[in-house]
Amino acid sequence: MQKILLSGVKPTGRPHIGNYFGAMKQFVDLQNEYQSFFMIADYHGLNLIQDKEEMQKNILGVALDYLAIGLDPEKAAIFKQSDISEHTELCWIFDTITTVPYLKRSHAYKDAEAKNIEINVGTFNYPMLMAADILLYDADVVPVGKDQKQHVEYARDTVEKFNRIFKSETFKMPEPLILDEVAVVPGIDGQKMSKSYGNTIPLFATDDEIRKQVMAIVTDSGSEIPKNVYAIHALLKPKEELDALYEANKGKYKVLKDALVEDLIAFIAPMRERRKMFENDIDKVKEILKKGGEKAKLVAAKKMEEVRDAVGVTL
Ligand code: ADP
Ligand code: TRP
Repeated sequence: MQKILLSGVKPTGRPHIGNYFGAMKQFVDLQNEYQSFFMIADYHGLNLIQDKEEMQKNILGVALDYLAIGLDPEKAAIFKQSDISEHTELCWIFDTITTVPYLKRSHAYKDAEAKNIEINVGTFNYPMLMAADILLYDADVVPVGKDQKQHVEYARDTVEKFNRIFKSETFKMPEPLILDEVAVVPGIDGQKMSKSYGNTIPLFATDDEIRKQVMAIVTDSGSEIPKNVYAIHALLKPKEELDALYEANKGKYKVLKDALVEDLIAFIAPMRERRKMFENDIDKVKEILKKGGEKAKLVAAKKMEEVRDAVGVTL
């Protein structure tokens, strides 16, 4: 039987090439190998996006991103988390077997605490909703970026705990799938590329935006190879070709940046055009989400019946 894959993206803004190379890119290849569920994690996003218009725009944005990078709705279920009420229902059941100190160990919570930020209960509980996302579908693999590994571990712990407490084999153990070679994509300042650092190259950037961001890549004068330029370029070109280019143009930052601009445009432009095509047919996109939701619902509803039975609320 085909193995099962589930992953999700939060609708919290424009994706960047770090999101793509760290997580989304593998979705496209894997959809041929696995029975796949690609979710728009809108209820996770609600922790951050609390504005009706922005939420609606961002949800459609992720759907467009998914389609533009090449996810195929004929092969995979592309759906909204909020369309499947079983996610929040299962999250509640997980809450009852989860302790506060255990959730306080999450990186996200510790970071917020270190910064003295008061987080909302939804953010605190984030790992349990994510565990529900994964476990409802009996996912074998969860392709994510490295910083999501801990969340998949929370899901794994939850499998063990639920099955033990309720003396059942209700849930299956999922594995994270992390692309090691691009574990962290650096931004134009050399730190991790992240929306929150303002150092991104957007995945669907216009040619002008690409040029502007590449010209702003921080280079430390003195070194012959501008390492921040090279690191981004390495995502697009085979190592041998890249090394030859940088060797032939030692110290010529402008030439190397121009070459990177050209390669980024060649890579981004076709996806950007594909996105535009779907943008012009939003009704079709909504229909894809509806159909994907119907597929997901069948699986989630069946699993939830097993769960209710296991905990004893079904008489
Ligand atoms: P951001 O830091 O920009 O807010 P998110 O936290 O929304 O990004 O991450 C969405 C997905 O993209 C996650 O799976 C994450 O691991 C991956 N990701 C984000 N930034 C990077 C990066 N710089 N390199 C590799 N993967 C990344
Ligand atoms: N937490 C993930 C992120 O921030 C998004 C997400 C939500 C997810 N539910 C998921 C990823 C389930 C994989 C599986 O990127």
